[in-house]
Amino acid sequence: MTRYSRITGTGSYLPPRRLTNADLAAELAAKGVETSDEWIVERTGIRARHFAAPDVTSSDLGMEAAKQALEAAGLQASEIDLIIVATSTPDMVFPSAACILQNKLGIAGCPAFDVQAVCSGFVYALTVADAMIKTGSASKALVIGAEVFSRILDFSDRTTCVLFGDGAGAVVLEASDTPGILASDLHADGKHVGILCVPGSVSGGQVLGDPLLKMDGQAVFKLAVGVLESAARATLSKANLTEADIDWLIPHQANIRIMQSTAKKLKMPFEKVIVTVDEHGNTSAASIPLALDAAVRSGKVKKGDTLMLEGVGGGFTWGAVLLNY
Ligand code: ACO
Repeated sequence: MTRYSRITGTGSYLPPRRLTNADLAAELAAKGVETSDEWIVERTGIRARHFAAPDVTSSDLGMEAAKQALEAAGLQASEIDLIIVATSTPDMVFPSAACILQNKLGIAGCPAFDVQAVCSGFVYALTVADAMIKTGSASKALVIGAEVFSRILDFSDRTTCVLFGDGAGAVVLEASDTPGILASDLHADGKHVGILCVPGSVSGGQVLGDPLLKMDGQAVFKLAVGVLESAARATLSKANLTEADIDWLIPHQANIRIMQSTAKKLKMPFEKVIVTVDEHGNTSAASIPLALDAAVRSGKVKKGDTLMLEGVGGGFTWGAVLLNY
């Protein structure tokens, strides 16, 4: 019998501190940085974001999301045999956030590792977990996207600091006799490193370079729209399906205009796109599982629906996962 993987539970967590655009604008104004709710909403669709307290880490946020996903799947943490955390803001240089989270879950022994593909991290991690389940290396995986991007924002740069937020989303992916994940398509092109990066590193006890986020917004926008269309089409073709078969498009939540352009290119009505960027901002690797969980818990996404998850981000990386929920 063919072995497939299927999502059996979802969860998410946002840190309690919520800042509207007006709240953020007031904080930035105190530092001499000018922005407005009107500018942010018009250019990005973002209305609010959540920021974690200084002592809260990605594994803390991921842990809350993981607990919810386990409960939704009806599993105990002890039954998990693989943990993958997608993050670009891990708790430490090493060990991985996944190992730290494994210990917080009170379990030991199963493989645990981080995936670093920035905003595509969750579709990368889901694809790896799917492959490990299909080949019998795992049966019950926790796949988590968790970020504290507020730590790497330059609050003197209004072109980037208004865009991002903190949070985590998680899924339980289990071996199944019926598909689940139908197809996926991952890519990277390292020549675009410079358009979206945090160009700092740690060496000899010092931070070398600049450890804050840098972005060429217009270059990112153009690339993102093109690759999101091609990844969606490639994934559909692998599964012998068409755009008309997609019930819900759940793209990385970076910017509402990127999502609108993608839906248009795929000839999908925007009503079929799950949007949480307005309330979450861009939470990088956490954005897709956060949006998925919100859509599941609001009753929009139902058992049996066909979902297209799509990520794009620094690297440049991009990819899509098509699945039967
Ligand atoms: N508030 C007020 N004004 C601002 C702000 C701000 N926060 N940021 C920029 N401006 C000003 C600029 O200074 C500029 O002013 P000027 O004309 O006097 O020089 C003006 O607004 C226009 O700036 P642009 O950078 O040209 O604005 P643009 O329309 O390109 O929008 C944005 C910027 C929203 C970043 C856009 O390029 C974009 O959506 N890019 C996609 C990138 C993205 O979403 N990245 C997220 C991370 S990547 C990822 O997750 C895939």
